[in-house]
Amino acid sequence: MKERLEALRVEALQELHQVDNPQQLNDLRVKYLGKKGALTEILRGMGGLSAEERPIIGQVANDVRAAIEGVIDEKQNAFLAAETENRLRAETIDVTLPGKALPTGAVHPLNKVAQEIEDVFVGLGYSIAEGPEVETDYFNFEALNLPKNHPARDMQDSFYITEDILMRTHTSPVQVRTMQQMNGKPIKVICPGKVYRRDDDDATHSFMFNQIEGLVVGPNIRMSDLKGTLLQFVQQMFGQQAQIRLRPSFFPFTEPSAEVDVTCVQCGGHGCRMCKQTGWLEILGCGMVHPRVLEMGGYDPKEVSGFAFGMGVERIALLKYGIDDIRHFYTNDQRFLSQFARM
Ligand code: PHE
Repeated sequence: MKERLEALRVEALQELHQVDNPQQLNDLRVKYLGKKGALTEILRGMGGLSAEERPIIGQVANDVRAAIEGVIDEKQNAFLAAETENRLRAETIDVTLPGKALPTGAVHPLNKVAQEIEDVFVGLGYSIAEGPEVETDYFNFEALNLPKNHPARDMQDSFYITEDILMRTHTSPVQVRTMQQMNGKPIKVICPGKVYRRDDDDATHSFMFNQIEGLVVGPNIRMSDLKGTLLQFVQQMFGQQAQIRLRPSFFPFTEPSAEVDVTCVQCGGHGCRMCKQTGWLEILGCGMVHPRVLEMGGYDPKEVSGFAFGMGVERIALLKYGIDDIRHFYTNDQRFLSQFARM
């Protein structure tokens, strides 16, 4: 029996030395040390041994088991170490390699400019009000002192949906909605949003564009307040050197009404091609809220007065960035848009 054990040791160790993967190693563990393994098989014959022989053979059996286990452990550790090394090697990164730049998005120039305009007015204490783009004839025209068949309706060719519903042609209907909501209390809001007109698209026109409206209503609001506010705005937008001038104009919802020019952003007022040698560029329309409009909004024109203004975001953006065609804003050319990511 001793010989058989010694032979087993030799055979097992020999086989174990040739093992080159964990699966094989496990197979051999089962083969030699498993419940039905070779060693167990031999030990089953221990019952037939004498009392003197038994401890001697037991000792040999233990030695053989220990030897086989020792080699198995050794092998096992070697496999584990190799596996770890392989994994670490696969995970190695070269931190000196240049990174891959991921393209990041940026705020659209129109949103950027609108945001800037809003910031200026919020800084002056204005709140922001919004209204629907699909508007009723009443809010878009009637309540702004533009009754049906009023010739001034032609100033803004409209997209009608039904006889009484249209795409709003300006942000002025939000004036009326705000007055109705504020119910006689003082108002100081700007209303940004998209507006729609039946215009043929060209370098300076678009069937859809963005406006920002302003409305202030309260006791003793005067034209000089309007002028001071607009000067503030223009200087924050275009620089401290910028000046404004008001030219008389007409809007049915304001009286008096004015068109506002800013010192030419290109030549600073000396005269150039951009300003057609006048030194001025038109940027917005404004005026004192018409008494009829105040009335229709639920305000008493004998108690309060107000001013309003409305500007096109595209126009401000064209001037601010020296862009020559409004269509650049809508055609989503990455080469155009990406320039604003860095501004
Ligand atoms: N709603 C006018 C327009 O779109 C602009 C404007 C607003 C003029 C407020 C005066 C007062 O042309």
